[in-house]
Amino acid sequence: MSQDAKKRQVAEAAFEKVRHLLDSETPIGIGTGSTANCFIDVLAESKIQVLGAVASSKATEERLTHYGIELLDLNATGTLPVYVDGADEADPRLNLIKGGGAALTREKIIAEASVQFICIADDSKRVDVLGTFPLPVEVIPMARSLVGRAMVELGGDPEYRQGVITDNGNLILDVHGMSITDPKGLELAINQIPGVVTCGLFAKRPADILLVASDNNILEFSRDA
Ligand code: A5P
Repeated sequence: MSQDAKKRQVAEAAFEKVRHLLDSETPIGIGTGSTANCFIDVLAESKIQVLGAVASSKATEERLTHYGIELLDLNATGTLPVYVDGADEADPRLNLIKGGGAALTREKIIAEASVQFICIADDSKRVDVLGTFPLPVEVIPMARSLVGRAMVELGGDPEYRQGVITDNGNLILDVHGMSITDPKGLELAINQIPGVVTCGLFAKRPADILLVASDNNILEFSRDA
Protein backbone atom coordinates (compact mmCIF):
# COMPACT_ATOMS: atom_id res chain seq x y z
CA MET A 1 0.00 0.00 0.00
CA SER A 2 1.30 3.48 -0.82
CA GLN A 3 2.20 5.95 1.91
CA ASP A 4 -0.60 8.22 0.73
CA ALA A 5 -3.13 5.39 1.05
CA LYS A 6 -1.88 4.66 4.56
CA LYS A 7 -2.26 8.32 5.54
CA ARG A 8 -5.82 8.33 4.25
CA GLN A 9 -6.63 5.10 6.14
CA VAL A 10 -5.23 6.32 9.43
CA ALA A 11 -7.12 9.61 9.01
CA GLU A 12 -10.33 7.65 8.53
CA ALA A 13 -9.57 5.65 11.68
CA ALA A 14 -9.02 8.87 13.66
CA PHE A 15 -12.28 10.26 12.31
CA GLU A 16 -14.16 7.19 13.58
CA LYS A 17 -12.48 7.62 16.95
CA VAL A 18 -13.55 11.25 17.37
CA ARG A 19 -16.89 11.01 15.56
CA HIS A 20 -18.82 11.10 18.85
CA LEU A 21 -17.29 14.54 19.57
CA LEU A 22 -18.17 16.06 16.23
CA ASP A 23 -21.15 18.34 16.63
CA SER A 24 -22.10 21.97 16.40
CA GLU A 25 -21.07 22.73 19.98
CA THR A 26 -17.67 21.09 20.41
CA PRO A 27 -14.41 22.69 19.28
CA ILE A 28 -11.57 20.43 18.10
CA GLY A 29 -7.89 20.95 17.35
CA ILE A 30 -6.36 20.02 14.00
CA GLY A 31 -2.67 19.88 13.16
CA THR A 32 -0.48 20.34 10.12
CA GLY A 33 0.97 18.17 7.39
CA SER A 34 -0.14 15.66 4.79
CA THR A 35 -1.67 13.23 7.31
CA ALA A 36 -3.57 15.98 9.13
CA ASN A 37 -4.73 17.16 5.70
CA CYS A 38 -6.23 13.72 5.07
CA PHE A 39 -8.11 14.05 8.36
CA ILE A 40 -9.49 17.42 7.24
CA ASP A 41 -10.58 15.87 3.94
CA VAL A 42 -12.38 13.02 5.72
CA LEU A 43 -14.04 15.46 8.10
CA ALA A 44 -15.22 17.66 5.21
CA GLU A 45 -16.48 14.68 3.20
CA SER A 46 -18.52 13.50 6.20
CA LYS A 47 -20.65 16.66 5.91
CA ILE A 48 -21.02 16.66 9.70
CA GLN A 49 -21.64 20.23 10.87
CA VAL A 50 -18.92 20.96 13.40
CA LEU A 51 -18.58 24.07 15.52
CA GLY A 52 -15.14 24.58 14.02
CA ALA A 53 -11.47 23.90 14.62
CA VAL A 54 -8.40 25.49 16.14
CA ALA A 55 -5.70 25.10 13.46
CA SER A 56 -1.99 24.66 14.12
CA SER A 57 -0.87 26.62 11.04
CA LYS A 58 -1.91 29.04 8.35
CA ALA A 59 -1.78 26.17 5.84
CA THR A 60 -4.32 24.23 7.89
CA GLU A 61 -6.42 27.35 8.31
CA GLU A 62 -6.53 27.69 4.52
CA ARG A 63 -7.58 24.08 4.03
CA LEU A 64 -10.32 24.35 6.66
CA THR A 65 -11.56 27.60 5.15
CA HIS A 66 -11.59 26.02 1.69
CA TYR A 67 -14.03 23.42 3.04
CA GLY A 68 -16.12 26.00 4.89
CA ILE A 69 -15.05 24.76 8.32
CA GLU A 70 -15.03 27.60 10.86
CA LEU A 71 -11.69 28.70 12.35
CA LEU A 72 -11.74 29.02 16.14
CA ASP A 73 -9.50 31.08 18.43
CA LEU A 74 -7.95 29.01 21.21
CA ASN A 75 -8.33 31.98 23.55
CA ALA A 76 -12.08 31.75 23.09
CA THR A 77 -12.53 27.96 23.11
CA GLY A 78 -10.60 27.16 26.28
CA THR A 79 -9.61 23.49 26.71
CA LEU A 80 -10.20 21.34 23.64
CA PRO A 81 -11.57 17.79 24.03
CA VAL A 82 -9.36 16.43 21.27
CA TYR A 83 -6.44 17.33 19.01
CA VAL A 84 -5.62 15.29 15.89
CA ASP A 85 -2.20 15.70 14.28
CA GLY A 86 0.60 13.83 12.56
CA ALA A 87 4.24 13.43 13.58
CA ASP A 88 7.68 12.99 12.08
CA GLU A 89 8.73 10.27 14.55
CA ALA A 90 7.02 8.44 17.44
CA ASP A 91 8.73 6.25 20.03
CA PRO A 92 7.14 3.43 22.06
CA ARG A 93 6.17 5.81 24.90
CA LEU A 94 4.39 8.07 22.37
CA ASN A 95 7.03 10.77 22.66
CA LEU A 96 7.19 12.54 19.32
CA ILE A 97 9.36 14.61 17.04
CA LYS A 98 7.26 17.18 15.22
CA GLY A 99 7.94 20.30 13.21
CA GLY A 100 8.85 18.95 9.80
CA GLY A 101 6.23 21.37 8.54
CA ALA A 102 7.57 24.20 10.76
CA ALA A 103 4.32 24.38 12.76
CA LEU A 104 5.77 22.96 16.00
CA THR A 105 5.05 25.89 18.31
CA ARG A 106 1.36 26.17 17.57
CA GLU A 107 1.16 22.37 17.58
CA LYS A 108 2.65 22.27 21.05
CA ILE A 109 0.27 24.94 22.29
CA ILE A 110 -2.77 23.06 21.00
CA ALA A 111 -1.51 19.72 22.34
CA GLU A 112 -1.07 21.31 25.77
CA ALA A 113 -4.58 22.77 25.59
CA SER A 114 -6.21 19.44 24.68
CA VAL A 115 -7.60 16.72 26.89
CA GLN A 116 -6.71 14.04 24.34
CA PHE A 117 -4.00 14.15 21.68
CA ILE A 118 -4.51 11.59 18.94
CA CYS A 119 -1.44 11.24 16.75
CA ILE A 120 -1.88 9.72 13.29
CA ALA A 121 0.94 8.34 11.17
CA ASP A 122 2.01 5.76 8.67
CA ASP A 123 4.32 3.01 9.90
CA SER A 124 7.48 4.73 8.61
CA LYS A 125 7.21 7.12 11.58
CA ARG A 126 7.61 4.52 14.33
CA VAL A 127 11.10 4.33 15.85
CA ASP A 128 12.66 2.81 18.95
CA VAL A 129 14.69 5.93 19.74
CA LEU A 130 13.89 9.44 18.49
CA GLY A 131 16.47 11.41 16.56
CA THR A 132 16.97 9.97 13.09
CA PHE A 133 14.62 12.69 11.86
CA PRO A 134 16.45 15.99 12.46
CA LEU A 135 14.97 17.76 15.48
CA PRO A 136 13.33 21.07 14.49
CA VAL A 137 13.87 24.02 16.83
CA GLU A 138 11.99 27.31 16.32
CA VAL A 139 14.32 30.23 17.04
CA ILE A 140 13.96 34.01 17.33
CA PRO A 141 16.00 35.32 14.34
CA MET A 142 18.65 37.26 16.32
CA ALA A 143 19.45 34.15 18.38
CA ARG A 144 20.09 31.82 15.45
CA SER A 145 23.87 31.52 15.95
CA LEU A 146 23.64 31.52 19.74
CA VAL A 147 21.14 28.67 19.70
CA GLY A 148 23.15 26.86 17.05
CA ARG A 149 26.23 26.90 19.29
CA ALA A 150 24.17 25.70 22.24
CA MET A 151 22.85 22.80 20.17
CA VAL A 152 26.42 21.80 19.30
CA GLU A 153 27.17 21.82 23.06
CA LEU A 154 24.24 19.42 23.47
CA GLY A 155 25.78 17.06 20.91
CA GLY A 156 23.81 18.05 17.82
CA ASP A 157 24.63 19.31 14.37
CA PRO A 158 22.27 22.21 13.62
CA GLU A 159 21.32 23.20 10.09
CA TYR A 160 19.52 26.43 9.29
CA ARG A 161 16.34 25.65 7.29
CA GLN A 162 16.94 28.04 4.40
CA GLY A 163 14.06 30.13 3.17
CA VAL A 164 11.60 29.13 5.89
CA ILE A 165 9.89 31.68 8.12
CA THR A 166 7.42 30.20 10.58
CA ASP A 167 3.86 31.44 10.99
CA ASN A 168 5.21 33.28 14.04
CA GLY A 169 7.93 35.09 12.07
CA ASN A 170 10.82 32.98 13.34
CA LEU A 171 13.49 30.60 11.97
CA ILE A 172 13.93 26.84 12.12
CA LEU A 173 17.14 25.01 12.99
CA ASP A 174 17.06 21.28 12.11
CA VAL A 175 19.35 19.49 14.52
CA HIS A 176 20.94 16.32 13.15
CA GLY A 177 22.79 13.54 14.88
CA MET A 178 20.91 13.38 18.18
CA SER A 179 20.09 9.99 19.65
CA ILE A 180 17.38 11.05 22.04
CA THR A 181 17.32 8.63 24.95
CA ASP A 182 15.89 11.18 27.43
CA PRO A 183 13.28 13.06 25.39
CA LYS A 184 11.75 14.97 28.29
CA GLY A 185 15.12 16.03 29.71
CA LEU A 186 16.33 17.20 26.30
CA GLU A 187 13.07 19.02 25.59
CA LEU A 188 13.36 20.95 28.83
CA ALA A 189 17.08 21.68 28.27
CA ILE A 190 16.57 23.02 24.74
CA ASN A 191 13.53 25.07 25.71
CA GLN A 192 15.61 26.85 28.36
CA ILE A 193 18.08 28.29 25.85
CA PRO A 194 17.37 32.02 25.38
CA GLY A 195 16.05 32.60 21.88
CA VAL A 196 14.41 29.19 21.55
CA VAL A 197 10.67 29.48 21.09
CA THR A 198 10.25 25.74 21.40
CA CYS A 199 11.75 22.53 20.12
CA GLY A 200 9.94 19.79 18.23
CA LEU A 201 10.17 17.23 21.03
CA PHE A 202 6.75 16.35 22.39
CA ALA A 203 7.71 14.48 25.57
CA LYS A 204 6.46 16.69 28.39
CA ARG A 205 3.11 16.46 26.62
CA PRO A 206 3.32 13.34 24.41
CA ALA A 207 0.45 11.83 22.42
CA ASP A 208 -2.23 9.94 24.34
CA ILE A 209 -3.12 7.66 21.45
CA LEU A 210 -1.03 6.78 18.42
CA LEU A 211 -2.80 5.35 15.39
CA VAL A 212 -0.43 3.81 12.86
CA ALA A 213 -1.31 2.58 9.39
CA SER A 214 0.61 -0.45 8.17
CA ASP A 215 0.09 -2.43 4.96
CA ASN A 216 -2.66 -4.57 6.45
CA ASN A 217 -4.29 -2.76 9.34
CA ILE A 218 -4.42 0.13 11.76
CA LEU A 219 -2.49 -0.34 14.97
CA GLU A 220 -3.49 1.56 18.08
CA PHE A 221 -1.06 2.41 20.87
CA SER A 222 -2.07 4.07 24.10
CA ARG A 223 0.20 5.88 26.54
CA ASP A 224 -1.64 4.31 29.47
CA ALA A 225 -1.23 0.76 28.13
C1 A5P B 1 4.25 19.86 11.14
O1 A5P B 1 5.01 20.87 11.68
C2 A5P B 1 4.70 18.54 11.65
O2 A5P B 1 4.75 18.46 13.02
C3 A5P B 1 3.82 17.45 11.08
O3 A5P B 1 2.95 16.95 12.03
C4 A5P B 1 4.71 16.39 10.61
O4 A5P B 1 5.71 16.96 9.80
C5 A5P B 1 3.98 15.29 9.89
O5 A5P B 1 3.73 15.61 8.56
P1 A5P B 1 3.22 14.54 7.54
O6 A5P B 1 1.87 14.10 8.01
O7 A5P B 1 3.15 15.29 6.23
O8 A5P B 1 4.20 13.42 7.48
